[in-house]
Amino acid sequence: MSVPTGSLRGSTPVSLRFPTEPTRVTPDSDPKSFLRKLPKAELHLHLEGALSPPRVAALAKKYGVELTAAELQQRYNARSFAQFLELYKWATSFLREPEDYAQLAQDACANLQEEGVVYAEITLSIGVMLLRKQDVRANFRAIRKVFVERSAASQGPTAQFIFDAVRQFGPAPAMEIVELAAEHREQGVVAFGLGGDELSLPFSEFQPAYKRAAQTGLHLLAHAGETGGPEQIRDAIDLLGAERIGHGIAAIRDPSLMTRLAQRKVPLEICPTSNLRTNALKLQLNGSDLSLLDHPLPKLFRAGIPVSLSTDDPAMFHTTLVEEYLHASKMGLSLDELLQINRAAFHQAFLPADRRSALLLRIGTASSA
Ligand code: ADE
Ligand code: ZN
Repeated sequence: MSVPTGSLRGSTPVSLRFPTEPTRVTPDSDPKSFLRKLPKAELHLHLEGALSPPRVAALAKKYGVELTAAELQQRYNARSFAQFLELYKWATSFLREPEDYAQLAQDACANLQEEGVVYAEITLSIGVMLLRKQDVRANFRAIRKVFVERSAASQGPTAQFIFDAVRQFGPAPAMEIVELAAEHREQGVVAFGLGGDELSLPFSEFQPAYKRAAQTGLHLLAHAGETGGPEQIRDAIDLLGAERIGHGIAAIRDPSLMTRLAQRKVPLEICPTSNLRTNALKLQLNGSDLSLLDHPLPKLFRAGIPVSLSTDDPAMFHTTLVEEYLHASKMGLSLDELLQINRAAFHQAFLPADRRSALLLRIGTASSA
């Protein structure tokens, strides 16, 4: 199986051979179309973060609220983590019944297909559904139906789901979410996660929920080291048993933690544009006037830490997975390194061996897996 090498900005044409659909692409002439065609995995994508301004406007209208373009533009311009949380709270307030979630799932699935994503782990903010006293089972049925049907019709990726609790809502709903996740394991729920504000409650309060999640066979995830420090990443691993870390960019401030992540092979789900928009980058690097070129991704990757690339909340951060790969290229990662990152995402995915191998075949790396 040929594996392309070289730089996206170099001059050598690259051929990719897929076992089922042979394709010849030339990254030099059009890196964007090359990256779009590359079968990719996305591991850190909040469904609610895919709520686009037009979809919010349509949902708001359904509920009798006329939104102006100016209000949408102003809300969708988060420049800090607090502003982002405010946007998330506001936009999701228009998701009120299963049909609303189904429409959102249609949007997200269509975008993933357009981006060349063949496998996705979709995070659902079950904590927000519970806060709004919604029927989680009915919402999940509606969301899953869309992904299953589109995938069967080759109109979207194979998807699995992560049930996410919100840290500032506390450990009681988190435990309820673990039970709901466990109940839906046969329906493709593979993990329990914790998002929200890292600086609210300590991870120690969530130990019982993670212990229970582990007992039920769920995989364990946590957002850590996004706006919090390296100690959050240590606690996520040591106190909760987190298998992958959402963001984890604070590791760049702690060389001994970087060594540990590399040695123990703890993957970081890296979301560059999110980090810029929430100001997490500025916070971690203690700098001003930072751009994506300052992102620690290349250093983390070259230190041997397993990383993957994701969008986090694509509509809210105005990004796509292909854009994130292009940003990574501008950070100095070579095409070969980008391909390694994509391949690694399939290895980091919570997939049984046979399904992983089948997906890896599509990127032409099964023999080197
Ligand atoms: N929920 C959705 N996006 C998030 C992020 N970037 N950090 C924490 N929680 C989130
Ligand atoms: Zn996230």
